[in-house]
Amino acid sequence: MRFIVAKDYMDLSRKAGGFIFSQISLNPNSVLGLATGSSPIGVYEQLIKWYELDELDFSNVKAVNLDEYVGLSNKDTQSYSHFMHENLFSKINIKNENTHIPNGKATNIDKECDDYESLICSLGGIDMQLLGIGQNGHIGFNEPNDIFNKHTHLTGLTESTIKANERFFDSYGDVPKSAISMGIKTIMAAKKIVLIASGESKSEIVYESFFGNITPKVPASVLQLHPDVTIIVDELAYKTIKLKSKT
Ligand code: GLP
Repeated sequence: MRFIVAKDYMDLSRKAGGFIFSQISLNPNSVLGLATGSSPIGVYEQLIKWYELDELDFSNVKAVNLDEYVGLSNKDTQSYSHFMHENLFSKINIKNENTHIPNGKATNIDKECDDYESLICSLGGIDMQLLGIGQNGHIGFNEPNDIFNKHTHLTGLTESTIKANERFFDSYGDVPKSAISMGIKTIMAAKKIVLIASGESKSEIVYESFFGNITPKVPASVLQLHPDVTIIVDELAYKTIKLKSKT
C-alpha cells in the first residue's frame, strides 16, 4: 500500500490525476474504473485540462463506472450517468460507446448486474480503478456488511450514506434507497487502485480502513490486501493517522 499525503484538495487532485495520466500515456487503450461523489471532481478537472492542452488522448480509453442509483435514468440530473457526462465525458474525446455505467432503470436488475460484470470481463478487466470513500468506509456502494459482496449487485443504502448524499438532492426523501454497485471482488480485480480522501470528515475512516482490521464492516479495509493500491489523502484527511502515530 502506497500512502501519499497531499497539501490540499488541489494538490491531491493533481497527484491522483497524474496516476491516470501515466496510465493512459503508457497504455492508450486503458480500461479506467471511475467514481462519482465530490472527491473525484478535481481529478476530472485536471484530466480535462490536460486534454485541452493536447497532452491526453481519450480516443481509445474505455471507462466503467462503479455504481448507479436504482430508479434514476441516465437523463436524470441526479444520476451518476449525468454526473459523469457533465463532469468529464462531455469535455474530453472519449467515445460515447466506450463509457459504461450500470442502468439504474433496468427492468431486470439481476440481469443488469450480471451483464455489467460480463462487460467488465469482456473489456479485459480494469487497468486502473479510481475510488473515493464514504464516511462509513463504503467503496462504490459496498456498504458495511457481514460479508464482502463479490460481484456487481443490487444493494440497499445505509442511512448514513443516504444522509451524506442528501446534499446532491432536494431532500432526504428524494435520495434513492438502493443502487447497483460493482462488488468488492470486481474492484479488487483491478490491476491498480487509486483511492482519494479529502477533508476532516474522512480522517477517522481513513485511519480505520488502512490501519485497522480487515473486515466487511469497513469495506475499504479490504484494499489492504490489494497488491497495487495508492491512497492519496490531503492534510485534513490525514489528521487521525498523524495523531495516532504520535501516541
Ligand atoms: C458515493 C459514491 C462513492 C463515493 C462516496 C463518497 O456514495 N457511491 O463512490 O466514494 O459517495 O463521496 P464524496 O466523495 O462526495 O465524499
